[in-house]
Amino acid sequence: MSTATSFPTLRSQIAGMAVTELADRFGTPCYVYDWSIIARRIADLQLFDGVRYAQKALSNIAILDRMRRHGVVVDAVSAGEIERALAAGFRPDTHPAGIVYTADVFDQAALDLVVQHNIPVNCGSPDMIDQLGAVAPGRNIALRINPGFGHGHSQKTNTGGPQSKHGIWHEAIDDCLVRADRHGLTVTSMHMHIGSGTDIEHLAQVCGAMEKACETVGRTVQTISAGGGLPVPYREDQAYVDIEEYFGLWNTTRNRLQDKFGHAIELEIEPGRFLVAESGYLLAEIRAVKEMGENTFYLLDAGFNDLARPILYGAYHPISIAHRGPVSGLQRDVVVGGPLCESGDIFTQEEGGFVSRRTLPVATVGDIVVLEVAGAYCFAMASNYNSKYRCPEVLLENGEAKVIRRRETASDLMGLETIPE
Ligand code: LLP
Repeated sequence: MSTATSFPTLRSQIAGMAVTELADRFGTPCYVYDWSIIARRIADLQLFDGVRYAQKALSNIAILDRMRRHGVVVDAVSAGEIERALAAGFRPDTHPAGIVYTADVFDQAALDLVVQHNIPVNCGSPDMIDQLGAVAPGRNIALRINPGFGHGHSQKTNTGGPQSKHGIWHEAIDDCLVRADRHGLTVTSMHMHIGSGTDIEHLAQVCGAMEKACETVGRTVQTISAGGGLPVPYREDQAYVDIEEYFGLWNTTRNRLQDKFGHAIELEIEPGRFLVAESGYLLAEIRAVKEMGENTFYLLDAGFNDLARPILYGAYHPISIAHRGPVSGLQRDVVVGGPLCESGDIFTQEEGGFVSRRTLPVATVGDIVVLEVAGAYCFAMASNYNSKYRCPEVLLENGEAKVIRRRETASDLMGLETIPE
C-alpha cells in the first residue's frame, strides 16, 4: 500500500481497453472509471466497521449502486444526494445506516426528506439540533465536531479550526447536549472531518480530539467516525497512507472509549477521494497545437467546465498521451489547456504557476490526452460554463465499457429555461 506511485506519460490502455477505441466509441471529452480500482480501495478499508462513502466525490448512481453491493454505505449533504442514495437502493434503516445526512445546515428540502425517510442526521451546527428536534423529537443524532484544528491539500479544503465554517466548535458540546436534551434527542454518534487531502500527521491528531469530545458527551456514544480526508497520490513521489497503521491509531482510541464506557463502540470512516480518485480518467482530444512565444500549447476539447481542480486549487493531475499514429519517443515541454474563453482554462497550472509547463510526449491534433486520477471531485464539479454539454461517464467493469451517463444535448442545456412573453 505505501509503495511509491508511477504515472506513465504514455497510456495506450485503461482496464485492458484501448484508449483511442474508448475515445472513438464514446466521443471526447469523456470520463471513464475502472471499477476494479474502486473495489480494491473498498477492500483496503475492510478493517473499519463501516465504510461511509462521501458521495460528493463522484455521485453517479451506477457507482453508488456498485458501492452498495460491496457493502459500502453513504453520506449525503443535500436533498439531491439523499435522492441519489435512495435511487441507488440505500436504506436508512440498515446497520450501519445506509444513508446519513451530514451537513452544517438544513435547507427545507433536505429537512423534509430526512423526516420523511427517517434518515439519521449528523449535525454540523447547534441550530441543526434545534431545527431537527422541532420536527422530529426523540431521535438519535450524531454531532460533527470541529476540533479546533484542520488540514487539507488546500486552505479551501481545510475544514477544521476557527477559519473554517464547519462542524460544532469543540467547546460548544455541552451547549449542544442541553439543546439535544430539550428535544429528547440522544447523541449516539460522534464525527470529525478536518479536511480533504489531509496528511497523516493531522489525521492522527484527530484521535485524541475525538476521545476528549466523546468523554464530554458520555456513555450514550455508540459510534465514532474518523471522517474522510485520506490523501491519494497525484504525483510520483506520493504514496497511499498505510491503512493498517491508520486503523491502528483509531482502534486504540476506540478501545480506550470502550474501556471507559463499558460497551462496544463502532468505528466508521467516511472517505470520498480515497475510494474513487485513482479509478477515473478524463479522455480529451488534442484539437490544436499552438506555438506562442516560449510556450507550446496542447489545446483540448475538455476544459475547466469538465475538470475544475487545477483552476480552483492549482491541483496537479498526472497527464498521459494515447497516440493515434506512430509514437516517436520524443518529448517536449508543453502547456495543456482547454477550449474555454478564459486564460485560466489551463490543466497545467500547479504550484501557484498560472501557466506551468509539463514534459509530455510529442503529440499532434487527434491524439488523446488522458487526465489521470480524475475520479474524485472532477465530474462531480463539472459545469455548463460556456454552454458546454457535460460529457458522458463510462464504467469499465469486467472487460466491458458501459455508459452510466450520456453526453448532454442542447435540450438538456436549455430544457429548464423559458422565454417569457
Ligand atoms: N466527510 C465530509 C463531511 C466532507 O465534507 C468530505 C469532503 C468528506 C467526508 C470526504 O473527504 P475526502 O475523503 O474526499 O477527502 N473539491 C475538493 C474536495 C472537497 C472535499 C469536501 N468534503 C477537491 O477537489 O479537492
